Amino acid sequence: MLLLQVWNFKHLLLFYAVLNITLWLANSQFIDEDEDDSGEDETPEEKAERKSIEEDSYLTVDKLIAKYGYPAEVHQVTTEDGYILTMHRIRGKQGAQPFFLQHGLVDSSAGYVIMGPNVSLAYLLADNNYDVWLGNARGNRYSRNHTTLDPDGKKFWEFSWHEIGIYDLPAMIDYVLKTTGFKRLQYAGHSQGCTAFFVMCSMRPEYNKKVIMMQALAPAVYAQETEEHPYIRAINLYFNTLVGSSITEMFHNEFRFLCRMTEETERLCIEAVFGIVGRNWNEFNRKMFPVILGHYPAGVAAKQVKHFIQVIKTGKFAPYSYSTNKNMLLYKEREPPSYNLTAVTVPTYVYYSKNDLLCHPTDVEAMYADLGRPIGKYLIPQKEFNHMDFLWAINVRRLVYARMMQVLGKYKDRRNNASVYPTPKDATKPDGGDSKEVK
Ligand SMILES: *[C@@H]1O[C@H](CO)[C@@H](O)[C@H](O)[C@H]1NC(C)=O
Ligand SMILES: *[C@@H]1O[C@H](CO)[C@@H](O)[C@H](O)[C@H]1NC(C)=O
Ligand SMILES: *[C@@H]1O[C@H](CO)[C@@H](O)[C@H](O)[C@H]1NC(C)=O
Ligand SMILES: *[C@@H]1O[C@H](CO)[C@@H](O)[C@H](O)[C@H]1NC(C)=O
Repeated sequence: MLLLQVWNFKHLLLFYAVLNITLWLANSQFIDEDEDDSGEDETPEEKAERKSIEEDSYLTVDKLIAKYGYPAEVHQVTTEDGYILTMHRIRGKQGAQPFFLQHGLVDSSAGYVIMGPNVSLAYLLADNNYDVWLGNARGNRYSRNHTTLDPDGKKFWEFSWHEIGIYDLPAMIDYVLKTTGFKRLQYAGHSQGCTAFFVMCSMRPEYNKKVIMMQALAPAVYAQETEEHPYIRAINLYFNTLVGSSITEMFHNEFRFLCRMTEETERLCIEAVFGIVGRNWNEFNRKMFPVILGHYPAGVAAKQVKHFIQVIKTGKFAPYSYSTNKNMLLYKEREPPSYNLTAVTVPTYVYYSKNDLLCHPTDVEAMYADLGRPIGKYLIPQKEFNHMDFLWAINVRRLVYARMMQVLGKYKDRRNNASVYPTPKDATKPDGGDSKEVK
């Protein structure tokens, strides 16, 4: 109990530290807006909207999907190493092509639905006649269960995105294929949803055959440039003190309460998020902030974060590095050998942006060049576009998903004929041209 107290106290301290740093960094750029006295004289429509947003902040993903009139299902999948994962599904019509969506770090399946049916990707795909399956990685709020391990114990949390790649994704993909009777599925990932995918394809290459195409949104893979990130050093120091634990409880109710206390604390909280992912007020739907607070962070193991920090510091996309002795034992080398991106033979289309503090364009382009079968890359034509805008931006459909639908459409009727995809060499020319149209 005492430990728990200290624990929360530490989290609060970190939170204040981040807020303060952010305030200090952002101070010079603050634009004073007139305070608007909402609340008292809100119209019935505004009140209904506020209530609906409040509701969206606590509904689980399946309930959210059902609320907006789509057929929702919940499925449980058990991995080879015993983790029990929850998948959410927006069931498509008979014979609809399965489309698998995998979330990023501290996120869950919620990331693909919370902005609602007019914005979020899961609904767009459902409207385009796909059978949409939403994965949940081990450790997040929907996948906090195991056949033998206790999620409140230390052993449960001994994993990073390496295990998500070699166990969770294969288990979920096999489950979807078995349930639907399809041989292959479409895949899109955001951030760590790409990282884990590339781990899977390089470590278990037989899974390349099960995926038609990969849409990689803000792929966090190479991260040399991220070393310049203002918070990485602080986060690194913080995580070095945690061994094999969950950081789900990191932002508990105090945090949510603080963030919604006043206009000003809300603004500071949003600035804190921007400090990590990149600043873009224009695309941020502030009305939806309570919903974001309700669904993030969804739970993550400290080792996942530490593993990313290793990638940043070593400049190598490689498995987790332990002590030299343990590395010798596990990998037969002093340092773990890099993942082999050439072995990723799924045709991959990449979406990235200039103001993404976690995936620098230079890193994304370096990764793209190393992929086994890149078929195009698209730099979002808005220079402030940040890491979370790929899911949250007000205009994400126009700025990102419209292109994705074009790419999917282009290969749709020929999806069983691999020879229609450009070869890696072609891909850097015709389709790839950064902001050219696909056609
Ligand atoms: C989606 O957009 C339509 C048309 O603009 C609007 O009528 C509807 O209320 C919107 N739905 C939501 C959930 O915002
Ligand atoms: C965890 O999984 C077990 C075995 O399937 C199940 O009996 C139990 O209800 C699950 N626990 C939670 C919290 O979902
Ligand atoms: C990487 O994968 C490619 C394609 O499967 C293979 O030809 C190459 O030898 C691999 N490289 C290493 C270092 O294992
Ligand atoms: C695949 O597409 C290529 C080029 O369009 C064509 O030559 C080939 O016959 C096709 N193969 C099959 C099995 O449809």
